[in-house]
Formats: sequence, C-alpha cells, structure tokens
Amino acid sequence: KGKSKTVWVCSDCGYDDGQWWGICKQCNGVNTMKRFSEGVEHLTSGFEVLENVTRSWLPHQSVRAMPTKLTDVNKGINQSNWRIPLSGLFGAEVGRVLGGGLVPGCLVLIGGDPGVGKSTLLLQIAAIVAEGCDMGGPAPVLYVSGEESIEQIGNRADRMRIGTDELFLYASTDVEDILEKTQTLSLRALVIDSIQTVYLRGVTGSAGGLSQVKECTEVLLRFAKKTNIPVFLIGHVTKSGEIAGPRVLEHIVDVVLYMEGEKCSSHRLLRSVKNRFGSTDELGVFEMSQSGLQAVSNPSEMFLSEQQSDSEFLAGLAVTVIMDGSRAFLIEIQALCVAGSSVSRQVNGVQAGRAEMIISVLIKQAGLKLQENGVFLNVVSGVSLSETAGDLAVAAAICSSFLEFPLPVGIAFIGEIGLGGEIRTVPRMDKRINTVVKLGYKKCIIPKSAETSLSALDLGDTEIVACRNLKEMINILF
Ligand code: TYD
Ligand code: MG
Repeated sequence: KGKSKTVWVCSDCGYDDGQWWGICKQCNGVNTMKRFSEGVEHLTSGFEVLENVTRSWLPHQSVRAMPTKLTDVNKGINQSNWRIPLSGLFGAEVGRVLGGGLVPGCLVLIGGDPGVGKSTLLLQIAAIVAEGCDMGGPAPVLYVSGEESIEQIGNRADRMRIGTDELFLYASTDVEDILEKTQTLSLRALVIDSIQTVYLRGVTGSAGGLSQVKECTEVLLRFAKKTNIPVFLIGHVTKSGEIAGPRVLEHIVDVVLYMEGEKCSSHRLLRSVKNRFGSTDELGVFEMSQSGLQAVSNPSEMFLSEQQSDSEFLAGLAVTVIMDGSRAFLIEIQALCVAGSSVSRQVNGVQAGRAEMIISVLIKQAGLKLQENGVFLNVVSGVSLSETAGDLAVAAAICSSFLEFPLPVGIAFIGEIGLGGEIRTVPRMDKRINTVVKLGYKKCIIPKSAETSLSALDLGDTEIVACRNLKEMINILF
C-alpha cells in the first residue's frame, strides 16, 4: 500500500488544505477543518458508524491482515488482465482517457454541468462493458438512476440503439438497497447516476449534502475494493467548476473525469483530472449526435471547420491555452485595430495593464505603428485571461488585425512577453502543448526556452515553432 496523503477538509463547505486551520479559509467556519486521509486506508478507522450499516452486504473486513511480501503481491497480478479494454471507436476513446482501460475495483467519478451528456456517456459505457467484446463475452452491468425512471432510461437507450441483454436498469436512491441488489447479479460494473441523489440510512443530512455524499462515496469505494467491481459515479458540477457538494469526493475516488462542452456546440470533451492508475494528460473528444456520443477521431477537422466557415473575419484572432486548476483550456483572443479617429483602448477579459504593456512592447520592440490606432481586445466566450501565458496570443491577434493579415487556421500560441520583447516560458508547458496536440492543431508557437520540456511529449502531427522574441515570431508568421 502506498503512503496515504493527509488533507484537512472543512466539514461545512468542503474546502481542503494541506494543513489545519482554526478558521476555514473559504467559509470562515470555526473549527470545521477535519483530518482526512486520501486513499483506502482511512476506511478502517473513523468508520465505526457505518460498520453496522454496511455489514449486511459487505464481507467482513479481515482484522488479522498481515503485511505481504512485494514479490508475492506481484505474483498474483496477471499484467494482461490488469485493465479491462473497452471495444470500438467510442470505447477506445473512453479507455484512453481512463488511462488505457478500466481497472478492476476502481471508483471513477464523472463530473460535468447538468445536460452536458453524463448520463448518455455512462449508458454507452455500461452497454459496451456489458457486451464485453474484448472481455470474453457479455456479463451483467447495473445502471442505477436516482434521477430518472427506468422507462426514461429505456427510451434513451432505444434512441441510441442500445439493446444489450446484460444491461440492467434500476431506479433507487438507497445505497444499501442498491448494493444488496448487486449481490443477486454477478456484476462486471456498476453505474450510479448520480452521487448527489443517493443516501445512506443512518447518516444525517439530506442526499446531496456533504456528509451523505462523502459517506456514500466511501461505502461505494469499499464496495469496489472488496468486490473488484469497477464503479462509476456521476457528479454534478457547480458554476465554479467544482463537483457540487464536497471537493472531498475527489480525494476519495480513484479517477476523476470531467465532461465539458458548450451549449451551442455538439462537441464534448472528456478530461481526466485525477487518475491513480495512469496519467491525467488524456483528453477524449466526442460529438453528441441523435444516437448518442460518437468519438471524434480527428479533432482538428472539427476545429478547422468552425474557423473556416467565417474565414473572412479571421484577421485579429489567435488561440492560446490557459490552465484552470489542473485543466488546460483553449481560448480565442480577438483584437481589432482601428486607425485614425480615436486612440481608445478597450479590453474585455484581458487585464488592462497587461494589454497596455503588450501594446507598448509591440510599438517599441517590434516596430508596429500602433500609436495612431484604437485597439480593442476581447476574449471569446467571456473567459478572463489571468495568466501571462496568453501574452503571445494577444500580441499575435493585435499584429494580425493591424497588418490585416489573417493567421493560418490551426495555430496556437503559448508564452509570456517581457518588456524587451522576449518570449518567456510559462508553467505547465508540457500539459498545454499536449492539449494543443490532442486537439489536432497544426502549429504551436512556444518560447525558445521551453523547447527542452518537449522531449517526453508525443507531438503527433503538430509542428512546434520556438521563438526567442516578438520580432522572430512576426517574421515567421506575417
Ligand atoms: P444527459 O446525458 O441527460 O446529460 P446529463 O446526464 O449530463 O445531465 O444529456 C442531455 C442532453 O443530451 C440533452 O440535451 C439531449 C442530448 N442528447 C442528444 O443530443 N442525443 C442523444 O442521443 C441523447 C441520449 C441525448
Ligand atoms: Mg443525467
């Protein structure tokens, strides 16, 4: 067993920290920070309340467990069986995000805004796991919903042409009842839609509340570990991008995936944010169709088609990658330079001082005659650019608009600009570049000094162009 990490979690708002605070830094609750160990180990302690509740359906925990020799442990693991592969194009895409397939006994949390397609995704996953093309034939999978009736799920499955024999549906919100029902089926996987709707008898608070969500997740984790059955949990995400209720959830589970997508677009991204069994740099791209989610095998096409359709307006548009927590996002920056009349500067989503600095550097160090121009900047879709990593894209967008020269499609910019016009590296270069590559971008402009961080990356078809300063970038692109 690995060393477990201790965190302190506020029992009121779920804020977590590496150290104890008398007053919660987020909600100012007094004495609410409670010790919490990440991992499975903590289940043996601090679990007395649930012991009685869970005894009925879980095998007894062996109290006389002894330390095991490493070599004996490894002997028991058949490497080829360690991951359950998911078949088909869709399965391969999901499997990649999971780190190469489904690990037996793992607890996976899938978060996302309401309506993004979590239930759709899980129903499809449940179906391919139940069919088990690469797993030696069909086996039962139970899809439990606390949100919809089984008729509603049945209707959806019908529209998606899922007709798997071994897929079982069950509408329930009582965890004990759910896990009792699993005993009659020898399950290959269990899906709970959603963790915010289920509850445990004997635990205070309503479903969706901090203690219910936490205790239910712990019971489900224990179930997964004891039975070796992989369990998928669906979790709703709040506006701020966190899984609603306690962040503590993310500490308990083995894998956290986020599903993202714009309301107006049919594309959906599946991102791994935490993975105890693999890397978290994986990104899956899907398209929501009439019959469910389809894997997009060539994401560049999807981005190109959107951009090419309004190619006349492409001058003044540049793409960059920002980090939000551990997640990387691509955002578009628009610039508009208007000669003459007014020299006003309006910025939206970019810090005014930063924009002014970039404009000044472009004037002084790159010789752009922006003095007589009004410059407008906008970050598309209302995101605000708080990182210096977007500097280069801001500069490129301004140059493009000023020179009335559209940037080629499929190009991304990552880098900070210094007062001397030099391009500097920013944190998490590898992660940002990885996202650009995964999304099928043709070219990525990066700081010269960041070239060293590329060695371990699989760059695919993306061409990396390293530039020392703004002049060099302008010479290459314009
Ligand atoms: P859903 O999976 O219910 O979202 P969540 O569980 O995250 O709340 O998906 C809801 C949306 O997906 C809904 O707006 C309809 C759309 N959809 C399709 O476009 N095609 C489909 O085949 C299905 C099942 C849903
Ligand atoms: Mg749903």
